[in-house]
Amino acid sequence: MVSSSCAFPFCRANADMIPLPTMQWMDGNLRLLDQRKLPSEEIYIDCRDIDSLAEAIRTLAVRGAPAIGIAAAFGAVIAALTADPGEEFNEAFYAKIDILEGTRPTAVNLFHCLDIQRRIFRMNPGRDSAIEALLESARDMMRSDLQASRQMGCFGADLLEKDSVVLTHCNAGGLATAGLGTALAVIYEAWDRGVLEKVYADETRPLLQGARLTAWELSRAGIPVDVLPDSAAASLLQKGQIDAVIVSSDRIAANGDAANKIGTYPLALAAKEHGIPFYVVAPLSTFDVSTSSGNEIEIEQRGRNELASLGERKLLPEAAGVWNPAFDVTPAKLITAIICEKGVLFTPDTDSIQSIFGRITDSR
Ligand code: MRU
Repeated sequence: MVSSSCAFPFCRANADMIPLPTMQWMDGNLRLLDQRKLPSEEIYIDCRDIDSLAEAIRTLAVRGAPAIGIAAAFGAVIAALTADPGEEFNEAFYAKIDILEGTRPTAVNLFHCLDIQRRIFRMNPGRDSAIEALLESARDMMRSDLQASRQMGCFGADLLEKDSVVLTHCNAGGLATAGLGTALAVIYEAWDRGVLEKVYADETRPLLQGARLTAWELSRAGIPVDVLPDSAAASLLQKGQIDAVIVSSDRIAANGDAANKIGTYPLALAAKEHGIPFYVVAPLSTFDVSTSSGNEIEIEQRGRNELASLGERKLLPEAAGVWNPAFDVTPAKLITAIICEKGVLFTPDTDSIQSIFGRITDSR
């Protein structure tokens, strides 16, 4: 584990960066920047009930492991606000939490955040005190996530040399978190320090999180970005034009295997082949130490329509089936380092991961 030279907890550079308005709590209502519409439209949707929030998570209006978890934590407030306040109040609350928990299976942040909210609910009996405590807890998660982003940004930027060119996959930026990002927090910090030359972003088929969201975020921040088809990434690495691959994760198993957006694993293989460092940037809320290896991580399968059409245009003949996993698992042995808010874990494995969690428990 290596510590950053940055002044913890706020880094000089991106402490001042304004987080993206990924989500805002507004008087009993969770307002979400609708990521399905970016970059052509910047519109917000308001979720006042569990069904609309569950639909927003399922259809990726809000997405990215930390953002899904935090949105669900605010969802717990909505659950308490909208559960029938009669005798069955507790049962009604838990039933709504179960609906949120069933939205997406891979990102462990969703389960961690809802477990915390269930505990808060148990510890604060009575509707009003439950609502107040759940809201404070969701706000805490948002603050901690922003702080973790700043720390990861510093630790990660320490690993980059002047004029670095990096490749990233999917969107692990402000949109995927409380507002700053994981992989993109490193990129923002490196840009602020003047050590980053440019970013290549995989378009990230089939929902184009790289092309639509990462390119939008980086352009907005004035960072040069070129988008490439996912299938061109290995050739770019082969050409020796990339200094580091920086991605994030939806769930990191106890042995360091990391699930992330489909297409991450082939990137890791190509990076290994060409001797390029492969970094995974993720907060502790993305670790799942109860899952021993990546083989046990449930991989979400998405619907046919995501591959079968592009807008109005049909891409597949009716008779063709699809295989559309949303994520893949990169084995720990292909990961140069995992960067979390506690530092940098080179050659991650069960012992090194256990030691971070052991130290956190000891310091409580
Ligand atoms: O299906 P998505 O868009 O929710 O997938 C997101 C990713 O795979 C991200 O890389 C991951 O959640 C980490 S975001 C900080």
